[in-house]
Formats: sequence, structure tokens, C-alpha cells
Amino acid sequence: MDEKKCRPCEEPVIEKAPPCPLQCMSPKCKAYQAKAPIDTSKKPIVWVLGGPGSGKGTQCEKIIAKYGFTHLSTGDLLRAEVKSGSDRAKCLTSIMERGELVPNEIVLDLLKEAILARADQSKGFLIDGYPREKSQGIAFEQAIAPVTAIIYFEASSETLTQRLLGRAASSGRADDNEETIKLRLKTFIDNNELVLAQYPDKLRRINAEASVDDIFGEVQKILDPLVAN
Ligand code: AP5
Repeated sequence: MDEKKCRPCEEPVIEKAPPCPLQCMSPKCKAYQAKAPIDTSKKPIVWVLGGPGSGKGTQCEKIIAKYGFTHLSTGDLLRAEVKSGSDRAKCLTSIMERGELVPNEIVLDLLKEAILARADQSKGFLIDGYPREKSQGIAFEQAIAPVTAIIYFEASSETLTQRLLGRAASSGRADDNEETIKLRLKTFIDNNELVLAQYPDKLRRINAEASVDDIFGEVQKILDPLVAN
């Protein structure tokens, strides 16, 4: 029989309960899973991914209403940090206005803090807009818990641009302008396939060109069985 190996450290996967003698931190290691701060068999963790304007936030609202999951959007967490006016906030503003990715230590710290603060009450987590690069996914699973499922909303650059330009009049967001939208799209395209390729077994793609309700129909086909388990 083939020996199972950790993806990050390439050491054999330890099947026994903690502590893992190798401290391998692999999401596939049973010992690591047992000591993760979230028990994902009871509280699933779902990453919600897609380009800027693909409808992540729109669908998350519908998911919260039906499933009562805890919604954490990294964009919202970062915008709240910006509003706080801290020194770190000034640097975040300029990165976000350039449509680039904020350093992962900052994003992951904000995310981990928010997850742990809600771990007891939550029925499950919707992590909206994370990971945006391969290393973010690895860092999340090492620091928090293995992801349960990944929903990816797929739409063309033209559709994404039109939606964001449509939203620009009312969103009040500094990054909803033609120039920054182009940069956000570029950042997304540069990283997206590498992120998705990491999770062939957990990834579920949804055509996000359809109507909001039709898309939610597809979302429910993914989440209903997850909740039933
Ligand atoms: P973030 O706030 O996450 O922005 P985004 O990914 O660009 O996505 P949006 O929130 O703009 O769009 P959405 O997909 O939620 O679509 P929505 O539902 O609103 O991130 C902002 C910035 O923060 C990043 O650029 C980066 O700098 C930083 N950041 C965030 N996460 C980070 C991370 N992990 N690491 C590093 N940096 C990070 O819909 C858009 C519009 O379309 C709405 O008007 C809506 O009504 C409409 N719409 C939605 N669905 C449909 C539909 N089916 N048909 C027609 N219209 C629709």
C-alpha cells in the first residue's frame, strides 16, 4: 500500500491522535486535524472564491439567511481595519487602491482572530475572498483547520467589469473605479488558477453568469449535503 505523505512537508502522514510527533501541520494529518481549533466535522469551513464582482458577497448573504453560517469577508475585515485609522491602515489603503494583495500576515491574523472569537457559537464558516494566492491557502490550513469545501464563482472579465462599474455609483468603495478594477482583475487572473489547482477534490465551480437565484440553486446543491452530514 502507498504511504500517505503530507503535501507541505512530504513526511509520512501520522494517523494517530495528537500530538503529531513530526509537528507536520498538514491538513491531511489526523493528529493535526484533532488539534485544530475548529472541528470541521461539526462546523464546516467553506471558502467562497471568484473574481472581483463575481457575486461572492451577494451569494454569501443568501447562504447566511438559509444556513446561518458565520460570514467573514477578508475585504470587509480589511476595510474595517482601514476605518480604524491605525498606522497599518494607511498602508492597507494604498495597497487596496492599487488593486494588489495585502500581505498575508495581516489578512490571516484578522481572519484567525475573527474565526476564533466566533468558534463556539458558529454553525460553520463562510470565508469570502480568501485564499487569493496559493500560499494563503496553505497558511490558512496550517494555522486554523482544513477547508471542507470550496465554491468558485466563474464569470468572464467583461461581466465582472460591467457589474463593478454598475455598483460603483452607489458602493462608495475607493477601489470601484475603472483603473482599479483593471488592476484587481489582473491580480485575480495572475493568481487564481494556482489557487484552484491546489484543491481538485474540494473545488466546486459554479457558472456565475446566471441570475442570482439560479446561482443560489447551485450553491444549495453543494451546501445541503454538507449540512445534512
Ligand atoms: P473584496 O472586498 O473581497 O473585493 P473583491 O474580491 O474585488 O470582490 P467584491 O466584493 O468587489 O465583489 P463580490 O464578488 O463580493 O461581488 P458582489 O456580490 O459585491 O477585496 C477588496 C480588496 O481587499 C482586494 O482588492 C485586496 O486588495 C484586499 N483583499 C481582500 N482579500 C484579500 C486577501 N485574501 N489577501 C490579500 N488582500 C485581500 O457583486 C458585485 C455586483 O454585481 C453587485 O452590484 C451585485 O448586485 C451584482 N451581482 C451579483 N451577482 C449578480 C448576478 N448573478 N447577476 C447580475 N448582477 C450580480
